[in-house]
Amino acid sequence: MALFRFYNHLIIASAIFGGIASASAAEVGKLSFCPDNFNEASLTMPTGETVKYKAYENIFYVTNIEDSVYQTLNLYVPENLKSGDSTPVFLRTYIGGYMASAAKTPSPSDATGRALKEGYVVCIPGSRGANSTVTRNGKTVYTGIAPNGLLDLKAAIRYLRYNDTLIPGSSERIIIDGTSAGGAMSALVGATGDRPEYDEYLLKMGTAQSSDKVFASVCYCPITDLNHADMEYEWLYGCTNSGVRHLNADQAAISNELAAECPAYINSLNLKDNEGNPITADNYKEYLKTFLIASAHKALEEGCEIPDTIGIIRYAERPDFGDRPARAGKDNRDRRGAPSFGPAGMRPRINNNTDFVTGIDLNKYLSYVASVTPLKTPPAFDQYGVLIDVPTPENNVFGNSEGNPANFTEFSLRHRLHDSKASLSEDMVRRVFIMNTMNFISENATSVAPHWFIRHGAKDRDTSFLVPINLATKLKNSGFDVNFFLPWNRPHSGDYNLDDLFGWIDSITDNE
Ligand code: DHB
Repeated sequence: MALFRFYNHLIIASAIFGGIASASAAEVGKLSFCPDNFNEASLTMPTGETVKYKAYENIFYVTNIEDSVYQTLNLYVPENLKSGDSTPVFLRTYIGGYMASAAKTPSPSDATGRALKEGYVVCIPGSRGANSTVTRNGKTVYTGIAPNGLLDLKAAIRYLRYNDTLIPGSSERIIIDGTSAGGAMSALVGATGDRPEYDEYLLKMGTAQSSDKVFASVCYCPITDLNHADMEYEWLYGCTNSGVRHLNADQAAISNELAAECPAYINSLNLKDNEGNPITADNYKEYLKTFLIASAHKALEEGCEIPDTIGIIRYAERPDFGDRPARAGKDNRDRRGAPSFGPAGMRPRINNNTDFVTGIDLNKYLSYVASVTPLKTPPAFDQYGVLIDVPTPENNVFGNSEGNPANFTEFSLRHRLHDSKASLSEDMVRRVFIMNTMNFISENATSVAPHWFIRHGAKDRDTSFLVPINLATKLKNSGFDVNFFLPWNRPHSGDYNLDDLFGWIDSITDNE
């Protein structure tokens, strides 16, 4: 391992002094996985069960290493592989806040430990982010500006695929999992496999020359669609501006301006509901309600208490559905069940004693969400220089390599510069484009993973509910397998309900 490290430092030196050149065939050859280079380790699960595994750590996944702290991956192979050579590889990114994330070890308390216990191969790559720096020629260089964190994840996947015959399990079955900014990265990796837009960057990094497609993408509360997220936030939460949100006049004016841009965006997506009916800005809120109602309904079935004060409207008697449980769209009243995104059988049978959620007072519910965690002030994402100078994580990740933040929407740029004609640079337009999952989803696109698991908590206000709903709906409309839900009473968080997640992973892998 020490020698390996030394060798890689030579490459770093060559990257620094010789400039970043495309990787030669000989260098790429150095990306070979060493099957004998492991330590034995184990972890104890909360149940007391011990899981033994081989740990392969600190593996560089590119040859032109810019940041030796982050551009490595760790790989863990359990003693008992779930299904031999076809065992899936569970790849967990710990990116949060668009920050850098070093390769980690598996944890018994999240999906990595659970994946090992289930017998999956686990990969935990590091990646550069908004705060990662190196010193070059005496100057601090920010290494993780967009799209570099994403490129690192792609490079790690290419490494796994390049070494498929040497690494146990199947790199044809990579399942990527992430939360929040990591959920956005998981979505991006899931939607952009082998897309040519990234080739030039990946070539310069000296990635393995192989595919970066994945089999499935697990996205907890993905903070994605960044260049529309401000308008989506204000369009949804504008109803709270003069109430619980307490915006001042300047903030309210920005909120209204942003909200006004959202209907055209919603309409441009050409989304459809499960019955094929168009979803437009006019009926979008009814569509959103179906997901919140399904969430509240499931919570009631599971015995949760829902206060009467938060806008959930219910019906105390079991309506007459004959012998069958209530189903989505079976009834004209606003009493729909889960909008059929989940696989059949995942919802428990309706209990005769539960109340039925018949509707939702959306403004009241949104005010409740805003009262639990104060909303972001407008603009929620591209905030830098509009009403305050403070950059958000998004402004930082779209910043430059000198560490200066940047605007990534024309709306905020124009407000900051007080110039109604200011426009984003060509380079920024390109970076924003390749950092937005929504740009890559189209009918049966081969770059898109076939399977998707998307969760966003029903009281998560970090981004608008429109963001995950649009993502899930666009994927579903485009022919992909999508399991989507807004879990009740969940704030901004990830890797919860692991039985659900691993049940779903079984369902997409065992039946193939
Ligand atoms: C994260 C949360 C945010 O609200 C945001 O804007 C970006 C990232 C996060 O938790 O990763």
